[in-house]
Amino acid sequence: MAQLKILVLHGPNLNLLGTREPETYGSQTLADINAELIDLGESLGAELSTYQSNHEGELIDRLHLAGSNAFDGIIINPAAYTHTSVALRDALLAIDLPFIEVHLSNVHQREAFRHQSFLSDVASGIIAGFGSTSYTLALRGLVSQLQNK
Ligand code: DQA
Repeated sequence: MAQLKILVLHGPNLNLLGTREPETYGSQTLADINAELIDLGESLGAELSTYQSNHEGELIDRLHLAGSNAFDGIIINPAAYTHTSVALRDALLAIDLPFIEVHLSNVHQREAFRHQSFLSDVASGIIAGFGSTSYTLALRGLVSQLQNK
């Protein structure tokens, strides 16, 4: 089977992982998480591109690029944009690629405003609450969905 191409997108403030509220988000840095994902991707037959931005429009531009560059699927932790961004939802619908919504924390145990997601009802899957393991679970889930298509 051909190598799968997967984009991993991280939203605002996730560049601060490791020092940002470690009791909520854990002690791994974003670089640690990306390195682990790239390794796992290799063993699962997937080539990963990773990208983080604190800017909504840059995340949207990156999604558009994935849509026009033969990517197979997306893993996205939209961070705070989960709860606010119709524009990210529209971009994901526009490129029409399967995506998994990921959160390090269990957003449903937290403030009420984090219970709302503009993406969940159009996601192929949602994983939350496992810390950095949420990302590896998401990658395994997405690869399995893509292989069984
Ligand atoms: C988060 C949860 C969001 O509510 C928050 O704004 C984040 C991170 C998570 O990974 O748990 O920045 O997406």
